[in-house]
Amino acid sequence: MAEQADQLRQWIKRQSIRAQEEVLNVRIKGSRVVAITSGKGGVGKSHITLNLALALQKLGQRTIILDADLGLANINILLGYEPSYTLWDVVQQHLSIRDVLQKGPLGLRIIPGASGISRLASLEAKEIQGVIEGFKELESECDWLLVDTAAGISPGVLSFVLAADEALIVTNPEPPALADAYGLIKSIWQVQGRVSLQLIMNRSASLRSGEEMGMRVISLTKKMLNQDVGFFGAVREDSHTSRAIARQTPLVLLYPASPAAQDIGDMAERMIHRIKPAKRGRWEQFIYRMGKMWSSVET
Ligand SMILES: Nc1ncnc2c1ncn2[C@@H]1O[C@H](COP(=O)(O)OP(=O)(O)O)[C@@H](O)[C@H]1O
Ligand SMILES: [Mg+2]
Repeated sequence: MAEQADQLRQWIKRQSIRAQEEVLNVRIKGSRVVAITSGKGGVGKSHITLNLALALQKLGQRTIILDADLGLANINILLGYEPSYTLWDVVQQHLSIRDVLQKGPLGLRIIPGASGISRLASLEAKEIQGVIEGFKELESECDWLLVDTAAGISPGVLSFVLAADEALIVTNPEPPALADAYGLIKSIWQVQGRVSLQLIMNRSASLRSGEEMGMRVISLTKKMLNQDVGFFGAVREDSHTSRAIARQTPLVLLYPASPAAQDIGDMAERMIHRIKPAKRGRWEQFIYRMGKMWSSVET
């Protein structure tokens, strides 16, 4: 039984790698700024961002999370600590990004967001520019920047998404989440973003059903919008998830053998094998695009 399940996992792994390769061709080699986003809230973005980052660290990849959910920052809550400083201090120019970097488990670093400061969700272009400039300092020190965004299609969210090399759109099998994932893809398509789009089907009953459900959304976007979206992977519904969250300890550390932790670990492996080592200057493109985006949405 266990062997069968293992074979199934291997099969799905091969299928999704093939699907990703077909969709992606060679375009995104070298990318490493990855936005994790969703149409609907509460679908698992922050949880997946944190655990994916830790899975990357386990594989020797130096990773930084930018908690960019500027209204409801909660990476720190998932880790059970109160950050001394946040992005807010960077915006106010008290501190540099390096000063606010928090150390997480396994050497992970986090740029904490600031919850409840509504002003942060509507920053002016000049202020955002300052934050973006701060990233330049960090480029040579890490392999991946994972950006955990807010849900929805506000200009603020879209600008983070469009500035990234790759956007992972998290959804789940429930119809409202599927509809909102499609809505988000459509919004990105409407502004003709160059970002590569990948779908994550979280809370799937099984890997196979998750992939099938994901492929339905992908076929729809191809048919209606002629927009390519890759299937990044499924993460199974797993009761260990809420237990880990309740204990404010990341799933991949507390229950590394749980189904969802394994699925996220597999994603991290695919990520580093699929996306080739970065060329110099990739972050600069992110920074440049963010700057352009913010000046166009905020003015
Ligand atoms: N694979 C999963 N299995 C079971 N529950 C999950 C799973 N992924 C997420 N959840 C639940 O969904 C909740 C919301 O996750 P969260 O990462 O905060 O969402 P978001 O950042 O998209 O708002 C979590 O508190 C957790 O209880
Ligand atoms: Mg969140």
